[in-house]
Amino acid sequence: TTIVYEHADGSESTILAKPGDSVMRTAVLNNVPGIVAECGGNAMCATCHVYVAQIPGLPEVADAEDEMLDCTAAERGADSRLSCQLPAVDGLRVRIPETQT
Ligand code: FES
Repeated sequence: TTIVYEHADGSESTILAKPGDSVMRTAVLNNVPGIVAECGGNAMCATCHVYVAQIPGLPEVADAEDEMLDCTAAERGADSRLSCQLPAVDGLRVRIPETQT
């Protein structure tokens, strides 16, 4: 399962994710910069914000995630998600915002 993280400077990190890990956890375990994840994955901090195109296999935005997405440091977009709420889906590309705090 491969995830591509696009950085604000245009560079990319391609990371092999372990099945069952979230997009946030995969980033943290692999030292991908730009995902802070202060709350440890509980949809309570909004510092794991990413922009992601909806692709098959991703869950819908749940109510708790939707509320937290109103608190992101970088502007919320139609494609904003909390990466702790996203399973590692093969071929996923996420864009990391310029700031999380
Ligand atoms: Fe805190 Fe995702 S890690 S909301």
